[in-house]
Amino acid sequence: MTADEIAEWFVENRKQLISGDLASDEYPDDVRRMQRLGAPLEEIIQLTNDPNVSDSNAGGLMRLRDSVRDWMRERPQYMLLADLKPGEGEFPEGIARLLRLKPPVNAVTGRTRESGEPIISFHGLLMGPPDLEEDPGDQTFTYRSWETLDIAGRILLPNYNLAAFLKLSTEWPQLESQLMKPSRGGAFSQWLVMRLAADRKSKAYDQQGGVATAWQMVPPPLYLEGIKVQTPWLYKFLKNPDRIRHETVLRMPRFNLDDAEARALANYFSAVDDSEFPYQNIPQREPAYLDRKNQTLANGDSDYLSESWKLLNANVCIGCHSVGGKPFATGPDPKKVTQGPDLNRVHERLRPDWLALWLSKPSWVTPYTKMLNPKEEPSLLRGNRPIQTEALRDALINYPLLLERDGAIFYDPKTQTVKPASEAEAAPTK
Ligand code: HEC
Repeated sequence: MTADEIAEWFVENRKQLISGDLASDEYPDDVRRMQRLGAPLEEIIQLTNDPNVSDSNAGGLMRLRDSVRDWMRERPQYMLLADLKPGEGEFPEGIARLLRLKPPVNAVTGRTRESGEPIISFHGLLMGPPDLEEDPGDQTFTYRSWETLDIAGRILLPNYNLAAFLKLSTEWPQLESQLMKPSRGGAFSQWLVMRLAADRKSKAYDQQGGVATAWQMVPPPLYLEGIKVQTPWLYKFLKNPDRIRHETVLRMPRFNLDDAEARALANYFSAVDDSEFPYQNIPQREPAYLDRKNQTLANGDSDYLSESWKLLNANVCIGCHSVGGKPFATGPDPKKVTQGPDLNRVHERLRPDWLALWLSKPSWVTPYTKMLNPKEEPSLLRGNRPIQTEALRDALINYPLLLERDGAIFYDPKTQTVKPASEAEAAPTK
């Protein structure tokens, strides 16, 4: 349903909704999904409870329809298009953060096909190239959307597999393969991806033509770099690049930039993305912020940051990252394991909001990433995913302090105790 159709449904069913004659299993799927995301449906229902509105009062009905539509437009986090599969790790706070950092981009072009269906347009990443030996009508393109899309008031989250989506709703959006355009820039990475995926000797080799592993091994996209990294870090990195990603097959060259050139380039990234520079506020290191967290989340003698440090030093992250003085430890099947960046530099490298977005759902940021959605750890911080997402972020932002204060530890979720780091044991990654 389009957002307008949902609004219309509320208006039409207002009497049954108010009298409670309509059970929630009679709601359309889209309204049930809003409910699952925590949308306060009573608020919409109250909007429809205006005594002046009657079927014979056309003006009143129109005003009502408008206010329901406005309610929805102001709360895009509930207007998701794609079905939420349980376990995918999406939660309302994470979605709200995503919409703030990667606001929806209008995908409706205003053009229609001859048959009347609207044409939508989006930036995507080709994940499964078509088999050119097949009949052109049967060739399928697997695209992942790179952006958050607004399709007639409904929101499609990034990384959604558009091929699956198009099968789901044949009613309106259609992919127009003739209109596909190559991306701007990054041509070398794309060439390298295809080379790596086709090379039998490479770790990225994939008989089915999949390119996710190969994308992990090429230089990263610089899309939204200005809201992602801290400007002073970027300046230092441009002057003297060091290794961040262990999986990439190339190293960033040294350009011998002078101070002014490096500063201009670092500031440029923030300026194009309209984010603050050259200095960033890091409230997560301030007593005011930490006091507030401690009031609700301290656990006896163990303050909020110590609880967060335990969470970061449990067995999940070390399956792929070096963290808290522990080396990266492979899971049970080393072939499946991807080594992520060491986490000891994140505090100076990434901006806090971006970091929380990454930890909410990494594939919203990078569609091909091998990093899994962090799951909640039941024994810590109320077992609550939104709280734990911020806690992981805050532990990473306060990393040097915590390493010095709480030391190199390992939190064992099985026994719920803190052990020396040497006893660390990685959790299975699959
Ligand atoms: C299955 C492997 C895997 C697991 C498990 C994993 N990560 Fe990652 N992580 C990665 C990979 C791969 C990257 C690099 C992505 C890229 O190229 O940008 C990454 C990137 C990151 C980054 C960005 C680092 C930077 O400097 O750009 C952070 C922060 C991070 N992970 C934190 C965590 C935390 C916290 C956990 C535990 C809750 C975790 N990861 C678990 C694979 C993993």
